[in-house]
Amino acid sequence: MFSQKTLFLLTLPSLLSATDTTASKSRTVNASLNAALKAAATNFDRNALLSQDTDWYYDFDLHPNFPSTTGAVITADAATFPVLTGAGISIALLKLAPCGMLPPHLHPRATNLVTAITGNTTSWMIGENGVRTRKVDLVPYRLTVFPQGSLHVMQNNDCEPALLISALNSDDSGTLNILPSLWSIPQDIIQAGFGDDSIDTAGLGKDIPQVGTGAIIGSDECMKRCAVHTNKE
Ligand SMILES: *[C@@H]1O[C@H](CO)[C@@H](O)[C@H](O)[C@H]1NC(C)=O
Ligand SMILES: *[C@@H]1O[C@H](CO)[C@@H](O)[C@H](O)[C@H]1NC(C)=O
Repeated sequence: MFSQKTLFLLTLPSLLSATDTTASKSRTVNASLNAALKAAATNFDRNALLSQDTDWYYDFDLHPNFPSTTGAVITADAATFPVLTGAGISIALLKLAPCGMLPPHLHPRATNLVTAITGNTTSWMIGENGVRTRKVDLVPYRLTVFPQGSLHVMQNNDCEPALLISALNSDDSGTLNILPSLWSIPQDIIQAGFGDDSIDTAGLGKDIPQVGTGAIIGSDECMKRCAVHTNKE
């Protein structure tokens, strides 16, 4: 009844809203395959479960968030690329828009090595109370480390897109975005945390971007310098 194209257009809104809220979380493509790989007695048995050549590659550019204009974090891990089950490693492609940013976050189960391919992306990282915050400009071919559990944030200073490769020593590293997480706690408790019970935390937190594609648009200074406009203005 419907052509393929009409069907695609009809499903687009639900597809978009699904990627909006859950995309930066790795989505499990084949849970029973993950389970079977975990249960396999030998590497020979694992290979039998991964019989097709297509089981052995992952195309970052086929992810629906790849063309996102705000950028995206696209992760190949056990959930999205089952051959990695038990391998203890995953790789994410970080695509940042002009002035694009990965908002403050941490990985509960992995140390993160990030290498810049293009752009000039400034990162800030703090590992624990009392240590200094480390600032690194990720220019091409420079690598930095965000130790497991460290809080980190990065922004592309360039008026052009930036590309980085992010390696994590877990096949299920997880990501926790700090601001939406903090704002999931009752207002009076956050106020106490700020040391000021008159602070309007609800107002302060109302525009915190959703996790979305993992990337957002960065600072006002950069946006003015690069003449980047968002629909917030
Ligand atoms: C999951 O993987 C198994 C083994 O390769 C395969 O037989 C099955 O069709 C896959 N299921 C889905 C939903 O892709
Ligand atoms: C990268 O950006 C930072 C911050 O804008 C700047 O200080 C630094 O000089 C830039 N580095 C290069 C190599 O352009």
